[in-house]
Amino acid sequence: MIKIAIDGPSGSGKSTLARSLAKKLGYTYVDTGALYRAVALFMTENKVDLDSSDRICSRLADISLSIVYSEDGTQHVYLCGEDVSEKIRTSEISMAASKVSAIPAVRNFLLKTQRNIAQSANVIMDGRDIGTVIFPDADVKIFLTAGNESRAERRYAELIGKGENITFQKVLEDMGKRDQNDSSRAVAPAIPADDAVILDNTEFTKEMTFDRALEIISQKLRERNGKM
Ligand code: DC
Repeated sequence: MIKIAIDGPSGSGKSTLARSLAKKLGYTYVDTGALYRAVALFMTENKVDLDSSDRICSRLADISLSIVYSEDGTQHVYLCGEDVSEKIRTSEISMAASKVSAIPAVRNFLLKTQRNIAQSANVIMDGRDIGTVIFPDADVKIFLTAGNESRAERRYAELIGKGENITFQKVLEDMGKRDQNDSSRAVAPAIPADDAVILDNTEFTKEMTFDRALEIISQKLRERNGKM
């Protein structure tokens, strides 16, 4: 099975890119951030103190998570039987997900779910540690990034489009905090794998990012096939 890892900070356009690549290539798209968000939603709804890793760890056993795909390939995340795919997209849950994702037991809890999916399908997985921890042997690794202002502008437009009442300044600030949390944590920090191709799309349209990523993938897969 082929595994393509798309890692990078929030707002870099990972999910848009990974979703359209998966469609083009006929692969399964996996948005791993949604799993951390679902854990964060569970803890928030159950009023678990997000600053207490002990309390968070003690509730992990109560969580049942599953990923289900609709016919058009859209990923749905079910938390204890409820489709929470929309509910997990708020800025509050973004920040909570960043917090819970720094806890090693949470990462461990989600490890198997992520690895299992790639056993039966070619996958394009987006996240923070796909190329470094989940699939260090991924066939292609892309680390997608963009300047802070551009990423915040994209995230701001997304949240406003969903009707959230938030200022650009707050989005920029939250993003900075999240970047700091995600890239400085002790376990599986959001940093590029040594063998990842860095793709900075600050000046790119979505189409340009897609074309460049497809070139990278085609080249890597050709090299891989040449070696086999
Ligand atoms: O990609 P996202 O914004 O939906 O991710 C939400 C949070 O989850 C992000 O701040 C860090 C964490 N995350 C992670 O630690 N590892 C992943 N593979 C995916 C997300």
